[in-house]
Amino acid sequence: MLDSKRYCIMGADLRDIPELEEKLKKCNMNTQLPTLLIAECVLVYMTPEQSANLLKWAANSFETAMFINYEQVNMDDRFGQIMIENLRRRQCDLAGVETCKSLESQYRKSENKKEDDRGQNGLLREESSEGSSRLPRARLELYDSTCSFPISLHRTFQKERLLSNGWETASAIDMMNLYSKLPRAEVSRIESLEFLDEMELLEQLMQHYCLCWATKGGGELGLKEITY
Ligand SMILES: C[S@@+](CC[C@H](N)C(=O)[O-])C[C@H]1O[C@@H](n2cnc3c(N)ncnc32)[C@H](O)[C@@H]1O
Repeated sequence: MLDSKRYCIMGADLRDIPELEEKLKKCNMNTQLPTLLIAECVLVYMTPEQSANLLKWAANSFETAMFINYEQVNMDDRFGQIMIENLRRRQCDLAGVETCKSLESQYRKSENKKEDDRGQNGLLREESSEGSSRLPRARLELYDSTCSFPISLHRTFQKERLLSNGWETASAIDMMNLYSKLPRAEVSRIESLEFLDEMELLEQLMQHYCLCWATKGGGELGLKEITY
């Protein structure tokens, strides 16, 4: 543990909430202060139940908070299977990969809604028109043909996962979609940093990672208005 008056860095098993809480208290964690929690490719190493407990604990503990999660998605296709197999071969099991796998089965498993409800909420239509106005046609076709289920189902699930564990607002977007929404000048800047002749590989990778965020309180800070 590295501890000072202004900064503390420590290790903890995120599956053990009482231990995590105790350690944070020792570092004078103040749950009244607006708090940003960031998880980068970590929840996927825990079972869905363990990550749900963590999300629930965070939502219940802080008065004003934002949770940002970056991790795999669309793991139900060939690309995902190869990633899972490669990691498994190195004795690294993604215990929570089910959460990032088939969102349709997740949807059925974790929510008691009917298929029809999804159509009625308009997400599918909203999503596809959004996507088609932003992405060049060729990229859109690649995007659609490599996904084994509609993208917005994933988004619906990711949002539900956060909302059902105590967060007040939730949003989720895959990196491919996010990248397509960046200002052209920013894309040019990024793409000029290093020569990249395999755009398809980058796109494939971005289709398999997503950014999700959730907020609790913080209306006065504009937390609820954060969008893309
Ligand atoms: C792919 S790396 C992500 C790196 C991470 N974003 C970082 O900034 O260090 C996965 C990390 O998750 C951590 N991890 C996996 N299971 C964990 C758990 N139950 N509690 C805490 N950390 C865990 C591993 O130790 C590893 O550092």
